[in-house]
Amino acid sequence: MSGRIHLSPPDVGPLEESYVIQALRSGWVAPLGPEVEAFEREIAERVGTAQALAVNSGTSALHLALLSLGAGPGTVVVAPTMTFVATANAAVYTGAEPVFVDCDQANGNMDVAALEEMLQRLSRAGETVAAVLVADMFGSCADYDELLPVCAAAGVPVVEDAAQALGATYQGRPAASFGRLGALSFNGNKIITTSGGGMLVSDDAALLARCRHLATQAREPAPHYEHADIGYNYRLSNLLAALGRAQLRRLDGMMRRRRLIRERYAKLFSTVPGVRLLADGDEGSNCWLTSIVVDPERSGWRAAELGTHLDAQDIETRPVWKPMHLQPVFAGRRAVVTGAAENLFAQGLTLPSGSVLDDRRMGRVVGAIEEFLDRR
Ligand SMILES: Cc1ncc(COP(=O)(O)O)c(C=O)c1O
Repeated sequence: MSGRIHLSPPDVGPLEESYVIQALRSGWVAPLGPEVEAFEREIAERVGTAQALAVNSGTSALHLALLSLGAGPGTVVVAPTMTFVATANAAVYTGAEPVFVDCDQANGNMDVAALEEMLQRLSRAGETVAAVLVADMFGSCADYDELLPVCAAAGVPVVEDAAQALGATYQGRPAASFGRLGALSFNGNKIITTSGGGMLVSDDAALLARCRHLATQAREPAPHYEHADIGYNYRLSNLLAALGRAQLRRLDGMMRRRRLIRERYAKLFSTVPGVRLLADGDEGSNCWLTSIVVDPERSGWRAAELGTHLDAQDIETRPVWKPMHLQPVFAGRRAVVTGAAENLFAQGLTLPSGSVLDDRRMGRVVGAIEEFLDRR
């Protein structure tokens, strides 16, 4: 059996096809329409917020969230260093200064003590902090019982970047519902996809109305085109919303499949010294990506060596995200660094985790890993 095995490819089938065709035939081929409205209602219901706003990417959701909270020149936005670059870029788009906070070794999510230190530093320096961006990495929620009181004490609103975490829960509560606003992504590699798309969710109707206005070219209610603000063309197409609705119906099944895959890896590595799973034991994870962390002193091999071996067998892997404070584009930015994110970057490897990975393909991945381990 051949064909490259990818990390997290889209999982679409006949249900998606029927939803998209129906939307196409309805004539609503625009960045608005009944599918968009229904998708917004269904996502809000799923994550337990009062409202939702469908947009064309997770990045634009984050950008709008920060704008609505007043991020801009002269303000600071606190962001995780362990994240995908879009989290930090959203702050830069507004003109705010991003500053970075290290992560927890166990799951890659924001380290609460490091956040506290950063907020204290910023307060002493008399800075205006527009928001703390918290990302739920790899499909596991951050530690909100600890994080939220720290942000509340500093009087800073939280924006939850739940791009990777739709379907995940923390203490039984859905991801994306913890901040003043939450952002979701439906990019092609996410747990559900609209090929490209995102959603902003909130209980704050006024904030979300502001975001909706900005996302729709800031059109004032007038018969002609009237604009009092600089707006954006950020809305989601009705056709893609239909695709998203079909995917959302399958979310629980896709999460179950990803969990089975994670359990298979857990079993495989349970007897291998020096190897652990990131966020191991998180029952609320949506299991979007499964990553291992390899201590070469104990294992006798490096994560990158396994990656090279699997690549030769046409199996994709990837190091975990390179921390933002190490990215050339953010050189010199302020950061509270403990070394945890750098360690995960050096020792982490993300394995194929997608719900399209059937038993045969999973067997191929497991066989290739066993072959690598046998040679050690
Ligand atoms: C943590 C995180 N934030 C933001 C994004 C951006 O989402 P999008 O690709 O939909 O713009 C992604 C993924 O792409 C992500 O992983």
